[in-house]
Amino acid sequence: MHLPRLSSMLLAIAAPLTAMPAEARAHRPPQVYDTTDKIPLPNQGNIPAHDPNIIFFEDNYYLFKGGIHIPIFKSANMSGPWEKIGTVFDSDSIIDKGNRSRPWAPTTIQKDGTFYCYYTVSLPGSHDSAIGVATTTTINSTWVDHGAIINTGTGPGSDVHPYTITNAIDASFITDQESGQAYLNYGSFWHDIWQVPLSDDLLSVKNKDSPDAKQLTFVPRVKPKPEEGSWMSYHEGYYYAWFSHGKCCHFQNGFPKRGKEYSIRVGRSKDVRGPFSDKDGHRLLDGGGTVVYASNHGSVYAPGGLGVLPGSNDSTPDILYYHYLNTSIGFTNGQAQLGWNYLEYKDGWPEPVGGQNSTSASSPSIYTLPSWNFVTALIGLWLYI
Ligand SMILES: *[C@@H]1O[C@H](CO)[C@@H](O)[C@H](O)[C@H]1NC(C)=O
Ligand SMILES: *[C@@H]1O[C@H](CO)[C@@H](O)[C@H](O)[C@H]1NC(C)=O
Ligand SMILES: *[C@@H]1O[C@H](CO)[C@@H](O)[C@H](O)[C@H]1NC(C)=O
Ligand SMILES: *[C@@H]1O[C@H](CO)[C@@H](O)[C@H](O)[C@H]1NC(C)=O
Ligand SMILES: *[C@@H]1O[C@H](CO)[C@@H](O)[C@H](O)[C@H]1NC(C)=O
Ligand SMILES: *[C@@H]1O[C@H](CO)[C@@H](O)[C@H](O)[C@H]1NC(C)=O
Repeated sequence: MHLPRLSSMLLAIAAPLTAMPAEARAHRPPQVYDTTDKIPLPNQGNIPAHDPNIIFFEDNYYLFKGGIHIPIFKSANMSGPWEKIGTVFDSDSIIDKGNRSRPWAPTTIQKDGTFYCYYTVSLPGSHDSAIGVATTTTINSTWVDHGAIINTGTGPGSDVHPYTITNAIDASFITDQESGQAYLNYGSFWHDIWQVPLSDDLLSVKNKDSPDAKQLTFVPRVKPKPEEGSWMSYHEGYYYAWFSHGKCCHFQNGFPKRGKEYSIRVGRSKDVRGPFSDKDGHRLLDGGGTVVYASNHGSVYAPGGLGVLPGSNDSTPDILYYHYLNTSIGFTNGQAQLGWNYLEYKDGWPEPVGGQNSTSASSPSIYTLPSWNFVTALIGLWLYI
């Protein structure tokens, strides 16, 4: 959820648009919105959320999102209503940089009875950033802030490769199915998305002075590098490297060319460390990435900031969730909405299924969700503001 400097410059050029009255801005020329009906509408989550992160635990969904002290919401289903049950922090993050009161892109996982929330502290357009972690054994009670585990720009370890060339934002989490080794994926416009192994206690990077880092995505030749918001999931033998590609934010100041706004893309690999390739065989390190979810119907704009909730079998499909802008509501980050779709896999490639729960129509039985064992959900848990 980051704008590089070049985009900031472009925004400066577009700045006179901000002088337009709100009504005029709300009625942009329709050609900037994709009207395709090939991509299904979302199920509406009925909560504003930018970079949502959702876990399933003891028959409830818990939603974490970027905001003051990282707000936490709870619902018995993905469509809400969502009840605010508290925040991760009682006060500002102990990380002394960026906006300490408003962390971004939380990714929460649960392991052996402890919840770990990986969060970002930064400022828009800056790579003086950090990924921190907080833990608790009870979601709705006090979390312990352990502070930064990766610094870029300034701070301990920021001189270590690859932190020198990357931006410590938008963490996601994956466990190797065979070895049990946990990895943190992170990064954005500065040299795109990277992966580092975590120590066994999940509170630091393994071998932190010389981490065994792997680059996951890279867009050659273009500047800035428009990929961020990593996610990683596992399904039937493949690891899926997900990310958001394009311009995330600030559309109230002007729109990019159609297709240059956020879209949700993926590549896969049998090895958690990659290399990842898309459906056409293009490597994510060469700018590849199959578009799974993008602007659609002229009403859903710039979906991204995604995560995947793992199902367990055909009757409990994986859920892709994300934020999107509703073109008839507005374009600020605060107006971003939670959306979600079940995923079907065709030849091992995930495809979103249309929005059963976006209307009052009752769901076909295949989509009813029996209670999940959270432990099965653990394996691929996740994401990013
Ligand atoms: C979803 O869960 C909420 C409580 O979290 C409840 O109020 C609502 O009725 C549920 N909706 C459906 C369709 O079950
Ligand atoms: C979808 O809606 C049905 C009822 O309309 C509800 O029972 C079910 O829990 C919903 N599924 C999710 C994932 O919210
Ligand atoms: C941090 O974010 C909050 C909420 O958006 C904002 O009110 C505050 O001014 C920000 N602080 C800094 C230092 O940018
Ligand atoms: C926290 O959640 C537990 C389990 O749902 C509940 O029993 C308890 O009352 C909650 N505590 C607070 C302070 O909300
Ligand atoms: C799918 O998983 C659910 C929950 O784990 C289980 O109750 C159900 O029996 C499974 N169905 C099949 C066809 O394996
Ligand atoms: C967009 O907002 C309009 C007006 O509130 C609403 O009718 C429509 O269902 C929304 N569509 C989506 C995909 O959120």
